[in-house]
Amino acid sequence: MLNELFRRTEIGTASRESGGLKKSLSVTSLITLGVGAIVGMGIFVLTGKEAAIHAGPALTISFAISAMGCILTAFCYAEFAAMIPLSGSVYSYSYATMGELIAWFIGWDLILEYLFACSTVAVGWSGYVVSLFNGWGIDIPKTLSESTFIYTSEGWGFSGSIINFPAVFIVAVVATLLVGGIKQSAMINNIIVVIKVVVILLFIGFGLSYVNVDNWTPYIPENTGEFGSFGLSGILRAAAVVFFAYLGFDALATAAQEVKNPQKDMPKGIIASLVICASLYVLVTAVLTGIVDYRQLDTPAPIAYAVDYVGKGLSWLSPFIKLGAVAGLSSVILVMMLGQTRIYYAISRDGLLPQFFSKLHDKYKTPHKSTIFAGIATGLIAGLFPYGVLSELVSIGTLMAFTIVCISVIILRKKMPHLHRPFKTPLVPYLPLLGALVCLLQMVSLPWNTWVRLIAWMIVGMIFYFIYGIRRSKLRKK
Ligand code: ALA
Repeated sequence: MLNELFRRTEIGTASRESGGLKKSLSVTSLITLGVGAIVGMGIFVLTGKEAAIHAGPALTISFAISAMGCILTAFCYAEFAAMIPLSGSVYSYSYATMGELIAWFIGWDLILEYLFACSTVAVGWSGYVVSLFNGWGIDIPKTLSESTFIYTSEGWGFSGSIINFPAVFIVAVVATLLVGGIKQSAMINNIIVVIKVVVILLFIGFGLSYVNVDNWTPYIPENTGEFGSFGLSGILRAAAVVFFAYLGFDALATAAQEVKNPQKDMPKGIIASLVICASLYVLVTAVLTGIVDYRQLDTPAPIAYAVDYVGKGLSWLSPFIKLGAVAGLSSVILVMMLGQTRIYYAISRDGLLPQFFSKLHDKYKTPHKSTIFAGIATGLIAGLFPYGVLSELVSIGTLMAFTIVCISVIILRKKMPHLHRPFKTPLVPYLPLLGALVCLLQMVSLPWNTWVRLIAWMIVGMIFYFIYGIRRSKLRKK
């Protein structure tokens, strides 16, 4: 019995199967897809609040810590992605290395990450759209632009709003694009990536001359006596929250099966996108906290706030920032949904989810049914729930997946040392161990109730596996 639970797919045969998905992505489109997936809510929305309530100007250090965990993990991801270029990312890697039960565990965790991250960003998109329209003198009523449910210290309640309509709308548009095919979606994504990077560079370039260095003193505000409220613990807590800002590079790995030359291009694509984003985040945070006193930054659109704060000199930039954010968040939603559908596809092909999820469209060759499912699930969650509750879960779930990836590299090097590895993580086991450690450190600095939600989600997944997956597994049938 135990043997069966830990039965593995074979790497050699698995990596040769393309499963009918079109191979249309080059390394440049991988980097644009990467930056498209990564830069979004984290920088446009979360920065302000984290500087204001957790880290102050030292949020730059939080971004650096978070980036370190991601870059270390990225090397490990790249080793797997090049060796096992399969749709399904870390799920497929762990199926080939650690067996079915652990693969399912991780796959279920990834569903949590992509489903909730996609919904979270859709809610952030809605916020920026409302503010953009506001600037044009058009009011979208709260009953159609806020979540149906709210979560306060007294628990769950109704907000009085019917549904967050803009959030549902953007999810529906993205799902429709993805049904049409990845090539078309990647082209639209490229345009959006250029827009959001230009907007961010304009903010850094023009904002720099309005920095008041007094705002950077004290650089690390003193801890208030509560864990996570400024000081070192505040930097760590903020690192765990802004970790969200780096999510997306792993979504890149989920598209490995659609890359022209995965062995060479995946590592390049993943690492280059991360380095670009980390540099942008640190610079934006430095300029932001230099322009405005960090205590004033707890606002839903901090970058636009800083530009308005400067007044006349930068007022021309304000609408561009909002438009850039709206466009930028759209591309994040796109890649997150792409990742989500490919995870369903991969798990379903192994029999652990119903066959429905791995059906390909006759003409477009996309997993259209799982895309429609992802659209409905994401749209409902984004329309009904507030983003604060959703985003907490995303960070912890992803940090767990990253820790497992780092450890898997070490295990696989020992168990299967002779496998052909087109890309090798340097300094094994030290680098992956350090990566796992940085991720774990961020996990423990998240609040306890986030842990409880993660555990509950994982228990539901395990129950599903023992009721459904274990009987339908194709590997087991073989
Ligand atoms: N990294 C993505 C964002 O910040 C999830 O929106």
